[in-house]
Amino acid sequence: MNQMKSKLINAIGRNLRKPEATLLGRFVKKNFEKKNGFIELEAVRLCDIQPNHQVLEVGFGPGIGVQAAYNIVKGGEGTIHGVDFSEEMVRIATKRLEKGISDGKVKLIHGDVSSMPFLQSNTFNRIFHCNCYYFWPDMSKAMNELHRVMKPGGVMVTAMNYERVKHIQAEGFFAKVGDPTLDRYLSALDSCGFIEVETKKFKHEKTGDNLVAILAKKSEI
Ligand SMILES: C[S@@+](CC[C@H](N)C(=O)[O-])C[C@H]1O[C@@H](n2cnc3c(N)ncnc32)[C@H](O)[C@@H]1O
Repeated sequence: MNQMKSKLINAIGRNLRKPEATLLGRFVKKNFEKKNGFIELEAVRLCDIQPNHQVLEVGFGPGIGVQAAYNIVKGGEGTIHGVDFSEEMVRIATKRLEKGISDGKVKLIHGDVSSMPFLQSNTFNRIFHCNCYYFWPDMSKAMNELHRVMKPGGVMVTAMNYERVKHIQAEGFFAKVGDPTLDRYLSALDSCGFIEVETKKFKHEKTGDNLVAILAKKSEI
């Protein structure tokens, strides 16, 4: 029984990190939509995206944040790129973003944040990611890539319900797949050259969830 429970916990953890095209993967994806959709919207709000901005979301999952960002840039010169290393999430989000993709305003790429040679340096005004950094095995490699592709003066935002993340960790779901310790993220921001790092803690107006967001900037020079 215990062995079965630990197998299930590991399978859920594996799908939280990289959703698969299975029943469990579909269940996890529904959960992202229900539990994380509003966090994605908060990250987009905190990014203060303008219609002419070039925007990147890493680990977009079902694509709710990409959709919200597209709604802002579709009236201007901006574009939104998304990078996710789950083929299943790219497939699901591609359906959601059909219009934006056919307009040429949205580009979804199957790839890993640690190596994004398909993205040019100094490109993005805004980058965001939600519920994702703790799955990056080599935090400096990922952070260096994010810093490389960001425009000087650009801003990166991450947002999460940290209490819930810690609860999921305590239940053992991250044992084999990730480490949400905030300090790992904060010290990588610092060592990879991000500046003006700001941690915001606030209650979400509608859900009452306690959220944590971290904003960081790439120097103008
Ligand atoms: C927990 S889900 C979060 C999805 C969505 N951002 C949300 O908050 O609902 C993590 C997402 O990040 C993606 N991901 C994890 N590690 C990644 C990496 N190294 N590179 C690109 N995507 C990654 C996964 O495929 C998955 O879609």
